[in-house]
Amino acid sequence: IRSALTDGPLKGKQILVTSGPTHEPIDPVRYIANRSSGAQGTAIAVALRDLGADVIFVTGPADIPPPTGVHVIKVETAREMKNAVDTALPVDAAVFAAAVADWRMAQETHSKIKKKNGALPELKFAENPDILAGVAQLKKNRPKLVVGFAAETDNVIENATLKLGRKGCDWIVANDVSPDTGIMGGSENAVTLISNGNADVWPRMGKSEVAQKLAARIAQELTAS
Ligand code: CTP
Ligand code: CA
Repeated sequence: IRSALTDGPLKGKQILVTSGPTHEPIDPVRYIANRSSGAQGTAIAVALRDLGADVIFVTGPADIPPPTGVHVIKVETAREMKNAVDTALPVDAAVFAAAVADWRMAQETHSKIKKKNGALPELKFAENPDILAGVAQLKKNRPKLVVGFAAETDNVIENATLKLGRKGCDWIVANDVSPDTGIMGGSENAVTLISNGNADVWPRMGKSEVAQKLAARIAQELTAS
């Protein structure tokens, strides 16, 4: 099927997609992570591939296997993800669907933290680099189109719009991940695509449909002269 589709509108375009969670080790047996199945990022990579793009798929430890027909780079931590992303540049477009852990341990511990008669460990954190903001604010090698995600629980559109401005990306895909929406971990998503002052509300649909709609918009943007 793939060979029949490689002539799509994104033929010859290099597109980077980050996906899945990152894991930040606390010690050799424990880690900090975000909830992310990797389903939405994987679906986006598939949709871009099916429009003919050369997809570089940088993924943290997700629940589902990476797609075929894309260049897969597996990472564990946010810092590894950042290195993989920076190494993949230049690309025509980049979509940041990963749920990157915001914090890691301030110090690496190579031996297991043991229980000590009820004395609690005191964990010290350091903030991880913002991978999306780093790419969006590049002077050299900035992709023509940089797309972020914003999973929010409150004031979704407002927070997502602020995030877009703060990070300097071109578009942000906002979604409401409040527990009562049932979005987290499910097969559907309800998103709003925010780009220069426009908020395009998409009805709730399957993650694959969201991915196809987004890929079509990306194709439109990259092929418009
Ligand atoms: N992102 C990233 N690197 C990070 C944190 C986030 O590349 N260290 C990207 C995500 O992949 C997503 C976007 O930035 O595309 C927004 O992530 P989000 O967690 O919603 O934003 P934060 O800036 O981390 O804000 P907060 O978690 O406080 O809402
Ligand atoms: Ca975050």
